[in-house]
Amino acid sequence: MEDRSTHCTFDSNLLNKSKQKLFALRLEHRPHRDMRASTHIALVARAFGMDGIFFSGVPDTRLCERINNVTKNFGGDFLIETGCDWKKVIKSWLRQDGEVIHLTMYGLPLPEVIDKIRNSSKDKLVVVGGPKVPPEVYSFATHNVSITNQPHSEIAALAVFLDHYYEGREFYFEFKNAKIRIIPSKNGKRITV
Ligand SMILES: C[S@@+](CC[C@H](N)C(=O)[O-])C[C@H]1O[C@@H](n2cnc3c(N)ncnc32)[C@H](O)[C@@H]1O
Repeated sequence: MEDRSTHCTFDSNLLNKSKQKLFALRLEHRPHRDMRASTHIALVARAFGMDGIFFSGVPDTRLCERINNVTKNFGGDFLIETGCDWKKVIKSWLRQDGEVIHLTMYGLPLPEVIDKIRNSSKDKLVVVGGPKVPPEVYSFATHNVSITNQPHSEIAALAVFLDHYYEGREFYFEFKNAKIRIIPSKNGKRITV
């Protein structure tokens, strides 16, 4: 049987669980060209409190292993799946009454829509693009949201979105079953293992 954490088995029952879900979808991952950016997107998603991330594009076992190793050491539950069909993931999400938030420099400014997004109790799928975003993504999205109307980066866009969404609470999130914990310190590095 295939390891669930390495290829896309997008499970629409994810949305039936009681807690509100927050997932990311990164479009069209290319293992060689995008390894660094994709790793950073997944690390931001995990560190800022998302439940998991889906990547469309080419399946990538190494990317999953890297992120799963971080989760093993630093704790929490975080799902990563690659090789997903982006349209299936988005349509399935919407069918199950989840919302799709597409981050794009063409969207409405984040400060104008963040309260409405935060106050909705629906599960959320936050979509960030790669080199090209299919035009349908704009029409499938419940919200097209801009983090300024200047072009920059999917990593920065996701981080700023999540910081506004959680209003800074991500600084205090606890990650259960962590093997390594950082003790904030003024000088040097303090960790507990
Ligand atoms: C390198 S950009 C590619 C932009 C691409 N030309 C497009 O069609 O949107 C990759 C991704 O970064 C994110 N991004 C870049 N600038 C953004 C901004 N100002 N606001 C929100 N998201 C942004 C978007 O998710 C975008 O798809």
